[in-house]
Amino acid sequence: MSESNVLKRASAAGLDQVVAAETALSHVDGEAGRLVIAGYDVETLIATHDFEATAALLWRTAGLDPAPAEEDVRRDLGAARVDAFALVPSLLSSTRGLTVTEGLRAGLSLLPDEGALPAHIRAVGAIPVFVAALVRRERGEAAVAPVAHHGHAADFLRMMRNAPASEAEVTALNAYLSTVTDHGMNASTFTARVIASTRAGTISAVVGALCALKGPLHGGAPGPVLDMLDDIGTRENIMPWLRTEIAKGERLMGFGHRVYKVRDPRAEVFNKAVTLLTNGNERVRFAREVEKAALIALREAKPNQRLDTNMEYYTAVLLEALGIPRSAVTAVFALSRAVGWTAHVMEQERVGRLIRPQSAYIGVWPDDAAA
Ligand code: ACO
Repeated sequence: MSESNVLKRASAAGLDQVVAAETALSHVDGEAGRLVIAGYDVETLIATHDFEATAALLWRTAGLDPAPAEEDVRRDLGAARVDAFALVPSLLSSTRGLTVTEGLRAGLSLLPDEGALPAHIRAVGAIPVFVAALVRRERGEAAVAPVAHHGHAADFLRMMRNAPASEAEVTALNAYLSTVTDHGMNASTFTARVIASTRAGTISAVVGALCALKGPLHGGAPGPVLDMLDDIGTRENIMPWLRTEIAKGERLMGFGHRVYKVRDPRAEVFNKAVTLLTNGNERVRFAREVEKAALIALREAKPNQRLDTNMEYYTAVLLEALGIPRSAVTAVFALSRAVGWTAHVMEQERVGRLIRPQSAYIGVWPDDAAA
């Protein structure tokens, strides 16, 4: 094989630079550090749209007919949370011993393809109910029922704690949820589109997308970010710890991105949100110091790589400040990203063409084996 073919195939292994779909849902500019979601810069989006408003925007943008108004989405998600709560006993009895993310994966599989409410509403409505129940089970506590007329973010925090959240907490969670609804052709969204292209339906696409999301190279990073902050422990230990890990060939969780070559704009959104929420408490200040040192250590060790902070770093710090246990951060990411997945399913179903790429055969040929 020629050297250029080897290189082409090496980069093809990650489909770098390959445009796999056209979408009106979001655009990631990795050089400028800019994220546009359905026509809004992310910073403007979160100032003007809570989670339900963002969901309505994305589903309208995806061409859902009739176009849903914000109030429709609020009402339908409330009803879907109540419906999903009826499945909680089966969820809990069938997922004993599983983690929250594994439990959510099983829980979403309990949803039928067809139902009274549309599948995208049932999937997005079920996730906070299942995640809250799974978190409470971890603590040995009984599940708390949803309240249909509450906002999605507020109801999730209330179900998880069995106590109402403050307005500041609801605002911070809404900022997180609206920000992470969609992000170009990331691995889980691509998975959702591949599944949708086979006409397997929305629920299957969401289950598959969650499976892709849970890996540490995608949505599974925030838990390890918090483990890293805990392991480092003290300011004196920051640089020695980071240098040792990099020298061992370990990746620093919350750094690096396939598309962003500068700081992920969502990292700053979450940094601001957690600073506002906690008044910049000791944990947040420590996280900022670790971030600064990590960027120095990465530049020293990998001067030819453009590695910067990705959103998972401050996701971890923000969700921790909201009292979300680290076992549940990936599932809370799914709570929001399911909006993007389902919107991409709508777009893909309209395209209507099976996604079926080619592979390059590098195995033995029958003729060679006989020789
Ligand atoms: N720490 C240390 N080195 C890193 C890191 C990191 N976080 N990220 C990349 N590198 C290094 C690699 O070791 C490699 O170095 P080498 O050429 O000396 O071997 C080089 O940078 C390029 O790495 P790739 O794996 O080719 O980069 P890719 O684009 O595939 O990786 C990824 C992107 C998976 C996010 C990577 O940066 C990573 O593993 N980060 C840590 C996990 C993480 O934070 N995941 C969350 C991503 S954000 C999200 O999905 C929502």
